[in-house]
Amino acid sequence: MRDDTPSRTAQWVAAARGLGMLLPDDVRIADDPFGVAFASTRVQRMLDERRPTLLAQLPGFKSWIAYMQVRTKLLDDAVRNFVDAGGHQVVLLGAGFDCRALRMPELADAVVYEVDHPATQGHKRGTLERIGAESPARYVSWDFETRAMDELADELAEAGHEAAAPTLTIWEGVTMYLTEPAIEASLAAIAAYSCAGSQLAMTYQAKVPGQKTSFATRLVQAAVARIGEPFKWGWDPAALPAYLEERGFALADDVSTPEAAHALLPPDLANTIPRTDHSHVALAERT
Ligand SMILES: C[S@@+](CC[C@H](N)C(=O)[O-])C[C@H]1O[C@@H](n2cnc3c(N)ncnc32)[C@H](O)[C@@H]1O
Repeated sequence: MRDDTPSRTAQWVAAARGLGMLLPDDVRIADDPFGVAFASTRVQRMLDERRPTLLAQLPGFKSWIAYMQVRTKLLDDAVRNFVDAGGHQVVLLGAGFDCRALRMPELADAVVYEVDHPATQGHKRGTLERIGAESPARYVSWDFETRAMDELADELAEAGHEAAAPTLTIWEGVTMYLTEPAIEASLAAIAAYSCAGSQLAMTYQAKVPGQKTSFATRLVQAAVARIGEPFKWGWDPAALPAYLEERGFALADDVSTPEAAHALLPPDLANTIPRTDHSHVALAERT
């Protein structure tokens, strides 16, 4: 991402989470009342002018909303399960405009740490202030590519993180934007601040050796590259369990977004996500 500019992809996903409100109640599986505050002024204007039908005509719009519904629901469920099991610490690594700390009542007694690039974090804090929303999150500014990740555990501890209590790390929509050294350093950092019983919930792009990138994924790749946030990283799902095991995590669950969409959404909405979409949501436990 660009050093001086808040992440545009963070804006896109937050807007898509918020625009889930345009779906009928009986279909919607996730809600984000804060997402639209981060949308572009063009999108906000269309909403203000009550012209959501125009929005619905934007290319890929329905698919994008459906995709974010599925991803948000799976990760919100990971949060609920973690809290139900007694967890009370969540780290949003590359938090972007994720407002779980504000929007999930399940987190009322938990501490949420948001780690992100200063440009994105600054924009988030400014936007929340503008709309009069006070987040209980604790902010830690970080550039994953340039700042030593082995300092993260200490920095979190300074913000109040208890290394001896289980932590759920949500690494949502981030791994694909990082270089291999940043991925390795981030996983080592997560392992360092996560005691046994901690969890890592993440999204990733599947990259299978010898398999051609699908047209659907190439379209997304072109769109994010155009705004200066190109995809850089992915895992082969077959190799992920061993990869994580070597780094102190046991893979507990791994599902492709299209597969999850067909389990969670009505077929007409699920079908807007191409079967060839390469995105996955995975859950791993600290061993
Ligand atoms: C697609 S957004 C996802 C945001 C959020 N997790 C969500 O799902 O709504 C990618 C996030 O990764 C962060 N990011 C990307 N590269 C980064 C870097 N080198 N250092 C810190 N944060 C970075 C961006 O600031 C942005 O918040």
